[in-house]
Amino acid sequence: MVSRLTPFLGLVLCSATINQVHCDYYSKSVPSSHRKEKVTHLHFYLFDILSGKKPTAVEVAHANVTVGPKSATPFGSLYAIDDILKDGPETDSKVIGNARGLYLSSSMDNKMTLVLYVDFGFTIGKFNGSSIIVFSRNPVTESPRELAVVGGRGKFKMARGFAEVKTHYLNVTNGDAILDYKVTVFHYEEV
Ligand SMILES: *[C@@H]1O[C@H](CO)[C@@H](O)[C@H](O)[C@H]1NC(C)=O
Ligand SMILES: *[C@@H]1O[C@H](CO)[C@@H](O)[C@H](O)[C@H]1NC(C)=O
Ligand SMILES: *[C@@H]1O[C@H](CO)[C@@H](O)[C@H](O)[C@H]1NC(C)=O
Repeated sequence: MVSRLTPFLGLVLCSATINQVHCDYYSKSVPSSHRKEKVTHLHFYLFDILSGKKPTAVEVAHANVTVGPKSATPFGSLYAIDDILKDGPETDSKVIGNARGLYLSSSMDNKMTLVLYVDFGFTIGKFNGSSIIVFSRNPVTESPRELAVVGGRGKFKMARGFAEVKTHYLNVTNGDAILDYKVTVFHYEEV
């Protein structure tokens, strides 16, 4: 804990003159040679369930006009999600984490596109407590499609990368889906 806080201890740099004390809100910029970049590949399945008594994706807002084709998630619909991540596509596959955040149905044409604002957190194994952040367009009719990984937490601190997503299962009537995520993530671990 102490070593992690060390860079911040130097943050308030003060120089005293006779009458005043000057403090900067920034430290000196130095080469970040104490960090080493790593690459990790992740493979998991996301269960996005809109139907039933315990949906993991719920609509929290929508436009009051219906534009574009009819679908489970019409243009202007905003969903909050707490989707389960599993190591396989089966109902009894092992739960490895959860995807929490929002997605917005954001295409007016019939090429259904969502924009994801989602934190994918892992709850077991080496990356328990760590997460990757996806902020990306998601053209759901394309398979595979590519999403941007823009950041991370814990062991995935300062992550960037991409996810290749395939639709493993989709019920077009109720929107339930199981998605195959293959993620390549570049991140730093302190050495
Ligand atoms: C949508 O909201 C606007 C502004 O409140 C209102 O004028 C319009 O009648 C609403 N449209 C529908 C279909 O409810
Ligand atoms: C994951 O981390 C949490 C919080 O540190 C801990 O309570 C839990 O037991 C860990 N789970 C596993 C499977 O390691
Ligand atoms: C797809 O969803 C509809 C509506 O909820 C349901 O009636 C149907 O059984 C579902 N199909 C499958 C294969 O689960």
